[in-house]
Amino acid sequence: MLRIVVLVSGGGTNLQAIIDGIADGSITNTELAGVISNNKTVKSLERARAAGIFAECVSPKDYESRELFNDALLEKVDELQPDLIVLAGFLVKVPPRMVERYSGRIINIHPSLIPSFCGVGYYGLKVHEKALERGVKVTGATVHFVTEGMDEGPIIAQKPVPVEEGDTPETLQRRVMEQAEWILLPRAIDDIANDRVRIVDGRVVRG
Ligand code: GAR
Repeated sequence: MLRIVVLVSGGGTNLQAIIDGIADGSITNTELAGVISNNKTVKSLERARAAGIFAECVSPKDYESRELFNDALLEKVDELQPDLIVLAGFLVKVPPRMVERYSGRIINIHPSLIPSFCGVGYYGLKVHEKALERGVKVTGATVHFVTEGMDEGPIIAQKPVPVEEGDTPETLQRRVMEQAEWILLPRAIDDIANDRVRIVDGRVVRG
């Protein structure tokens, strides 16, 4: 059984896709040990608790420094003893010590085809605003392992999504979620839980 902990910041639709995937059997060999949010008021915590899953907030606002927040976050994650940490719309920089301790055991979903529209400053709706500004005709989503560099880790899976005439950041975000994110992230967890992916020379290989 792969024990996963999901870190979130917002609405938690990707978290919901994971909860649903475990419930309906499309994610196998996986147990959701807990959900941690950096934000007290988010819907994600409600979604987790409604599914009977441990959920807690660790907010930077409650700590005097980023260092203390990072320590508290890492401590909370450690307590839950995950095999895999899933960043499902977690919009906080992952503490370097966490990346080190859980090397090869943290994955992230990003709402673009990396290496487009990623890195510092590209998160949530902003990614789609930039894609529309640039006028790309195709965007998508990427699931990747997390390394020190922002959005730079080995890519597990990607899925393209068309941009349509008249799209707003919100309509594009919704399409990318529906057609890519909610499919890719549960599938990547299932792949990891069933040993179908591994990292070789900084790249993900299957089988
Ligand atoms: C998702 O679109 C996710 O890909 C993005 O935040 C959104 C969270 O939505 N993550 C990033 O931008 C990470 N750089 P959700 O809370 O409804 O899952």
